[in-house]
Amino acid sequence: MISMKKVIYNKYGPPEVLEVVEADPPEPLAGRALIKVEAAGVNPVDYKIRNGSMKLIMPGKFPRTPGGEIAGTVEKTGPGSSFFKPGDRVFAMMGTPQGGYAQYVAIKENLLCPIPQRLSFEEAAAIPLAGLTALQSLRDKGRIIKGMRVLVNGASGGVGSYAVQIAKAYHAHVTGVCSARNVSFVQDLGADEILDYEKVDFTRMDNVYDIVVDAVGKKDFSSCRKILKTGGVFISTLPHPMILFRQALNFLFSKKAYFVICKSRAKDLVFLSRLVDENKLKPCIEKIYTIDDAASAHHHVESGRVRGKLVLKM
Ligand SMILES: NC(=O)c1ccc[n+]([C@@H]2O[C@H](COP(=O)([O-])OP(=O)(O)OC[C@H]3O[C@@H](n4cnc5c(N)ncnc54)[C@H](OP(=O)(O)O)[C@@H]3O)[C@@H](O)[C@H]2O)c1
Repeated sequence: MISMKKVIYNKYGPPEVLEVVEADPPEPLAGRALIKVEAAGVNPVDYKIRNGSMKLIMPGKFPRTPGGEIAGTVEKTGPGSSFFKPGDRVFAMMGTPQGGYAQYVAIKENLLCPIPQRLSFEEAAAIPLAGLTALQSLRDKGRIIKGMRVLVNGASGGVGSYAVQIAKAYHAHVTGVCSARNVSFVQDLGADEILDYEKVDFTRMDNVYDIVVDAVGKKDFSSCRKILKTGGVFISTLPHPMILFRQALNFLFSKKAYFVICKSRAKDLVFLSRLVDENKLKPCIEKIYTIDDAASAHHHVESGRVRGKLVLKM
């Protein structure tokens, strides 16, 4: 019987509550596949669940394992699973943002997507949550089309770095908002214009945008309303109470406000994979940590200063 390492915590708290333990790998039930995880993405939601700030909306028993996105190879499939076979390279956003920091996971087969050939496991693991959030924001909420003017606040972060690239893939005009240290990074992602948030308050600009994606959830709808064109859309990754209220009233107004909740969809990962194959999307990883160093990765992501993404190597 193989054994595996996984990261657990037995109480809410700082990154130091994370520990690495030995455990038996799970058995894949019907419709699931056992994945030998090579890399897992690290996201802000991982520390928010770990420190207890999401305990009202995500209650659960201890021990808990962080992590909601993985890349690896199919080890075996459960009864009734037939699409993937042992050895296939796959990546996925898990059905829940938990359980991914482990050397094996059993995951629903319909969440898996083949890894684009040109990507390493680490690069693939850096895509799902942030990439899907960016895609679903721009395409599903923003209804992006060629020629639109799009502003991405937090363009240097995980969600933001994908949002800039996806908006460019749709042939939009993109303004990226970041700090001075990230200007060349955001330029390299393809942004047409850059605004330094330490020098310019973009909510006071005269520019009019079709879509404003606040990838870091730092602005509210009321401060961005006037920079939207008639019919423009504001999307936030964080659920400020006012945005939920305003979203319920969208039918009354031409300018729309949305809080996006990322959905785990394999067909959207296929879409992102196609952009990778066409050289229009590239995961940007600031640092790769080992599974034994998960606490350092959490300190880093909790700083709010990550350029692109962090990944744990299993
Ligand atoms: N609703 C959902 O389904 C969903 C999905 C994914 C993520 N999220 C949430 O979205 C947020 C963003 O996540 P993330 O993974 O992209 O990374 P993140 O770690 O929150 O973002 C880090 C980046 O934000 C930049 N930044 C910090 N303060 C800023 C400011 N005031 N203005 C503009 N940029 C700023 C930082 O650059 P500097 O160091 O240069 O400032 C850094 O590059 C998190 O709160 C996360 O929980 C929600």
